[in-house]
Amino acid sequence: ATGMITIDPGYKNTGSCKSAITFLDGEKGILRYRGYSIEELAEKADFLEVAYLLIFGELPNQEALDKFHNDIKGESHVDEEMKKILDGFPKSAHPMGVLSCLTCALIAFNPTSVNVSSEKEMYWAIVRIMAKFPVLVAWTLRKKKGLPLDYGDDTLGYVENIHKMMFKKPNHKYEKNKVVIDALDKLLILHADHEQNCSTSTVRMVGSSHAGLFASLSAGISALWGPLHGGANQAVLEMLEAIEADGGDTKKYMAKAKDKNDPFRLMGFGHRVYKNFDPRAKIIKKAADEVLADLGVEDSILDIAKGLEKEALDDKYFVDRKLYPNVDFYSGIIYRSLGIPTEMFTVMFALGRLPGWIAQWREMRLNKEPIGRPRQVYIGPTVRSFVPLDER
Ligand code: SDX
Repeated sequence: ATGMITIDPGYKNTGSCKSAITFLDGEKGILRYRGYSIEELAEKADFLEVAYLLIFGELPNQEALDKFHNDIKGESHVDEEMKKILDGFPKSAHPMGVLSCLTCALIAFNPTSVNVSSEKEMYWAIVRIMAKFPVLVAWTLRKKKGLPLDYGDDTLGYVENIHKMMFKKPNHKYEKNKVVIDALDKLLILHADHEQNCSTSTVRMVGSSHAGLFASLSAGISALWGPLHGGANQAVLEMLEAIEADGGDTKKYMAKAKDKNDPFRLMGFGHRVYKNFDPRAKIIKKAADEVLADLGVEDSILDIAKGLEKEALDDKYFVDRKLYPNVDFYSGIIYRSLGIPTEMFTVMFALGRLPGWIAQWREMRLNKEPIGRPRQVYIGPTVRSFVPLDER
């Protein structure tokens, strides 16, 4: 009704926009990017192709994909001065904080990304962040490991080059490993967009004031960091390691998860929209078995994860609340098998989600969405007169 404000905590039943990018059906567990199913894209496309699809709306032909990649290669240098900011962090700094800060710092070296007033300017701001963000992601890992930064190699594919910048050891030849690159590529595709989740809504909200793309993305990274959102993939591994250290007693942790007085949650379980299996979790669970087998890695943590899943799917508390494994439940097990430290898992989520954030920000600007400014129901004190300090 006009004038009547209804409060919808967490916007559980509020739509914030119309979007043509990603379709979710939470009941049926369906996820599509621009109409293409996630199952097909994960199997048949590569990450840069999916990024192009999400951002520009169509699968690129070879010429368009090559141009996009070449434009990105031409912009993949990060100003040397940025290293002073990286060096300012202690090794103990959480990579998500470093990444959010460096993304914002990029603005100082790419001022054109601030106020994109034409499609051409928008295109180049998008190319620049698609080119430089992976460098910053690699920097966070090199910093954590005390390794010299790697400048990449533009003869490699987009994801291969990211892997090289992250993992090439100084004084060693970079060894290509198809199993590793394919696994990384698939994981990044599965994280690429997810309609109006918390971090994407943040990117749209910040961008709605016409703050620049890089500033909006920096805010999105901070929102993703939370353990209830992207930070859950790190929390899942820490939980599984704690259960393993506690003798693998999954029953004890299931009881804790159901105990309302216990703040412990079964991380990697539950979802605001999926009230069925998260389709991404299904693909990642299958990939975890395949990648570990291909790499000849035995990981007892995977067995604990499967044990937890089995128990939860048979447990009334979880079934009644339709709590199933989500994208974060198995992804960390693959990241770990690829040599990615636990603290870097959410950075990998941000790397995957980058094209989705860009696509949603671009759509919000092209649709000329109004500045986000919700109302409230005031429940504070009614009017009262000021009391001088010596009378309080
Ligand atoms: C991501 O939105 C997106 O799309 C996000 C994402 C994306 O791609 O962008 O899919 C990525 O963030 C996946 C979710 C990762 N987070 C976690 O795994 C953290 C653990 N999960 C929860 O905190 C929770 O399930 C959320 C945050 C995912 C969803 O929270 P909701 O929709 O606000 O649901 P809720 O907290 O109100 O829970 C409903 C009930 C409650 O019990 P009751 O009060 O009804 O008795 O289910 C319970 C909750 O206590 N519950 C859990 C639980 N999740 C919900 N109980 C134990 N363990 C859990 N994990």
